[in-house]
Amino acid sequence: MTDTLTILGLESSCDDTAAAIVRVGDGPARILAQTVQGQGQLHAAFGGVVPEIAARAHAEKLDLCVAEVLRASGLGLRDMDAIAVTAGPGLIGGVISGVMCAKGLAAGAGLPLIGVNHLAGHALTPRLTDGADYLYLMLLVSGGHCQFLRVDGAQQFTRLGGTIDDAPGEAFDKTARLLGLPQPGGPAVEAEAKLGDPARYAFPRPLLDRPGCDMSFSGLKTALLRTRDAAMQDRGGLTVQDRADLCAGFQAAVRDVLAEKTRRALAAHPDLRLLAVAGGVAANQAIRDGLMQVAHDAGARFLAPPLALCTDNAAMIAYAGAELFRLGQRDDMTLAARPRWPLDSSSPAMLGSGRKGAKA
Ligand code: KG4
Ligand code: ZN
Repeated sequence: MTDTLTILGLESSCDDTAAAIVRVGDGPARILAQTVQGQGQLHAAFGGVVPEIAARAHAEKLDLCVAEVLRASGLGLRDMDAIAVTAGPGLIGGVISGVMCAKGLAAGAGLPLIGVNHLAGHALTPRLTDGADYLYLMLLVSGGHCQFLRVDGAQQFTRLGGTIDDAPGEAFDKTARLLGLPQPGGPAVEAEAKLGDPARYAFPRPLLDRPGCDMSFSGLKTALLRTRDAAMQDRGGLTVQDRADLCAGFQAAVRDVLAEKTRRALAAHPDLRLLAVAGGVAANQAIRDGLMQVAHDAGARFLAPPLALCTDNAAMIAYAGAELFRLGQRDDMTLAARPRWPLDSSSPAMLGSGRKGAKA
């Protein structure tokens, strides 16, 4: 890279409204300012994200987020080289809110507009955080996505496998609901699991008997429900220890599936010498440890970005926008919001879809 680029990024594809300003140049990329406004409280009473509520909240918050990052960075729109925005995949109302906001900013300030695939934002995060070189293996694991990607470039992704039904984060959230733990379920289940015995209840390791890197997590949710009901029937309720043991058993099953499928992906693609993870589930220490061990055994490097950049954020969108800008991408007022937008259009479509819709 030669010239410095300063990009304003917007993200609104699910339940986080985010803006960030990222500068890329000769040295490492720098996040000059960023903000993420979650919507947890707006959706708490409904047990999941309500798309219409999310879209309205994005429309209300986006310009405030933009004003906040401009203020925090001490920059104005005139200092930007382009506006990058998540144009999909995601909840369509939220994506439209972001795209409309970005179009308004770009038209008003006379700046180029760049539509970014949200999944590309996640997949390029190791380049933003650690300056990782192409090529690498990305495991994206969150509430809405779960896939292995071979990343050759900012527009070159090959999906090596993924979930055929639910995303792991969705299974963590369901487990928490079934055990009376708060949302989002991942951190709550992880905290319980620390106190539990993973060997007490037997959970399946779905699809390990099949070759390849595809995964399945919906059966684990059913297994958790059945095991919980059986335990309750035996003793007329769940003890604190029962709950911790259920969490530990469930988490160990997810960890084992992700670790084994990652081992296979690295073994099948010996040219992939770097394993990087992203997505909320990558915040789970037991899962990180499992993946780190797999990378170590395969002689590969392991990269896990800081939690704030694993989960949804706009810095990854601004950074991906910078790479796309360098490659010559320019969008105009015809830029469309896409609820579905696979990164690798040559791969067959996945069978199932996650809580937040099929994201790839
Ligand atoms: O990437 P993210 O913030 O949003 C999208 O889904 O795009 O991921 C959120 C998901 C939720 O399902 C949440 O329960 C899960 O990531 N999660 C975790 C942990 N922290 C968040 N799952 C397991 N262990 C955690 N520590
Ligand atoms: Zn995401």
